[in-house]
Formats: sequence, structure tokens, C-alpha cells
Amino acid sequence: MFFFTIVVVLALVGFLALTLLAVDSLWSVLEMVSSYLMPYFLPSEVETLTKKFGPWAAVTGSTDGIGKHYALELARRGFNVVLISRNPDKLRATAEEIGKLHSVKTKIIVADFSGGSQIYSHIEEELKDIPLGVLVNNVGLNYDYPMPVCEVSDTKTWEIINVNVGAVTAMSRLVLPGMVARGRGALVNVSSGSELQPLPLMTIYAATKAYVRSFTYALRAEYSPLGIHVQHLAPLFVSTKINSFSQRLMDGNLLVPDVATFSRHAVASLGRVSNTTGYWLHGIQYFFIKIAPEWLRMRIGHQLNVEFRKEYMRNNKVKSS
Ligand SMILES: NC(=O)c1ccc[n+]([C@@H]2O[C@H](COP(=O)([O-])OP(=O)(O)OC[C@H]3O[C@@H](n4cnc5c(N)ncnc54)[C@H](OP(=O)(O)O)[C@@H]3O)[C@@H](O)[C@H]2O)c1
Repeated sequence: MFFFTIVVVLALVGFLALTLLAVDSLWSVLEMVSSYLMPYFLPSEVETLTKKFGPWAAVTGSTDGIGKHYALELARRGFNVVLISRNPDKLRATAEEIGKLHSVKTKIIVADFSGGSQIYSHIEEELKDIPLGVLVNNVGLNYDYPMPVCEVSDTKTWEIINVNVGAVTAMSRLVLPGMVARGRGALVNVSSGSELQPLPLMTIYAATKAYVRSFTYALRAEYSPLGIHVQHLAPLFVSTKINSFSQRLMDGNLLVPDVATFSRHAVASLGRVSNTTGYWLHGIQYFFIKIAPEWLRMRIGHQLNVEFRKEYMRNNKVKSS
């Protein structure tokens, strides 16, 4: 009888643990599915994003990749857009492209986030008359190709930390007081699937993304009671130049979507979902990745990076040191 009770208790504990793990892992998929299905079941006057958060949105790192297409998608939904990035020519070209496609206002702010704390007074000054409803903390930087920590240059190391950790922190602190005063607003903090576990050969990058996740979850607890929606957006691979170390990733496939498709899905989740990969197929991938224990994920991620490193070195005729 005693042993029978122990077995039953252990079975119940096991069942509970598995159920919680499955729910936790599947949450991103469930949220994505519900954010797509919800509009069909809600009355037609669903509040638009501009009504919900305000007419202006800003996107950091918005001249290429996810940031640029996220900005285009926000403009398609009626937001006036502030583009904040480092290259003035690309900024002007992106603003022009948005202006041609959508009847919204644009503003550009030139800022190199790798510069550290001194850039933010300029951004603050430029934003002072704009009641921002949405801030997309998108800007992000990785190594040129996978490499061990001591192979990353000093300059690159600080650039990655300033861009991936500094920008999300400083920009959030800069816009939150205004949003709180207006009683509404949304922050979208873009991390990465690499926050899921330590990632050898992209050690610094993955660690910065773990910071973004932790920062975002805690920020939400502090500011959602004040009317601010804080979203953690953690994409898996998307075909953009950040992955140009691998032709396979640049070519894309079902699991590596093109950036326009990804951004359309990601913006559809804004205001509806707190934690998401931004793309439903990434949500399913995320579920299977998360089921595996951390040591296994780390080993697979490491091996993947070994292959990407070989591919890069082969294609660029770089000799391994
Ligand atoms: N693509 C993926 O597979 C993937 C997966 C997971 C997470 N993410 C995350 O998604 C975000 C966007 O990545 P992405 O793939 O779209 O990268 P991307 O194509 O390289 O675009 C990055 C954007 O940020 C800008 N930027 C880079 N360094 C900057 C700096 N120091 N100051 C100001 N702007 C700077 C770039 O400007 P230029 O146009 O001048 O280069 C570009 O507009 C990042 O946070 C990244 O970590 C991407």
C-alpha cells in the first residue's frame, strides 16, 4: 500500500510537471494562434493599434531587416513613424519608401547605438515633441560569423553590448515616462531564440539576448499596471543580413522566413501577445526546442555554429586561427 501510494504520487508529480512544461513551451504558439483567430470572433470595431497606443511609433535599427519591415508594416497600419538608425542615406531612403507607399508622416534620427550613453540626449531632444505610442527596440548586432569569445575584437565586443543591451535599456527609460503620463503605450523588445540557452561561438550575442528577455519580463511587471504593453519578441532565424555568414540562412526556407512575411506576422501580434516568437512556425519550432534539456539545446546550438563557422570560412577563404 505504501509503495502504491508513492508510485501514484510520483506519477501525479510527473504528469503535472509534463503538463506545465507543455503549456509553457506551447504558450507562444497558442498566443500566436489566438491573436490571429481573435479578430474573427470580435465585433468589427476592433480598436486599431493607433487608437490603442497613439499615432506615432519609433523603431530603432530601421534601415534594414526586421526593423525596416516592421516600420513599413506599422506605416501600413496608419502609424507615423520615427526611424532611428546610424546611416543617414539609408534613413532618408527608408523614409522616402514609406512616404511613397503610405500617407503617414516620417521623421528620421541619426544615431549610432554602438556609441554608448552619450547618444541619448540627442535622441531625447529629437523626440521631445512626439507623443510616442509604440517603441520597437529592434536594433541588434552579432559577430560577422560564429567565433570563440577571445576572437571577437574589443571594439566589436563593446559595440554588441552597447547596441544589444545599452539601447533597449536607455530607450525604454527615455520613452516610458511620457507613455506613463499619457496612460498608454507599447514597447516591443526584440531579443532572439538564442536567449533560450547559452550559445557557444555566439556567446556574447546570446548573453545579451538573455538580458533583453530578463529586462523585458521585469519591466512588464513594473509598467503593465500603468497601462503599458511590454512585448518580448524572440524570433528564430529570419532571412536578413545579420545572418550573412550563411548562404543557407540568406536563401531562406519554410522555417527561415523572408523578412516581410516575418514582420507582417510580428506586427499582427502587437498589443495582443506578451511573449512571442512573432511567427507561428517559429512558435512550433520553439516548442520542440524548449522540450529538450538545456545541455542538449546548448550542444545542438554549438554544433550548428561550428557548421556555420566552417561554411563562412570556406566561402570567404578565412583560415581558422
Ligand atoms: N534575423 C534573424 O535571424 C534574427 C533572429 C533573432 C533575432 N533577431 C534580432 O532582430 C533584430 C533585427 O535584426 P535584423 O536581422 O533585422 O538585422 P539587420 O538586417 O542587420 O538590421 C539591423 C538594423 O540595425 C541597424 N544597426 C545596426 N547597428 C547599428 C548601430 N550601431 N546603430 C544604429 N543602428 C544600427 C542596421 O543599420 P544599417 O542598415 O546601417 O546596417 C539595420 O537597420 C536584432 O535585434 C536581432 O538580434 C534577428
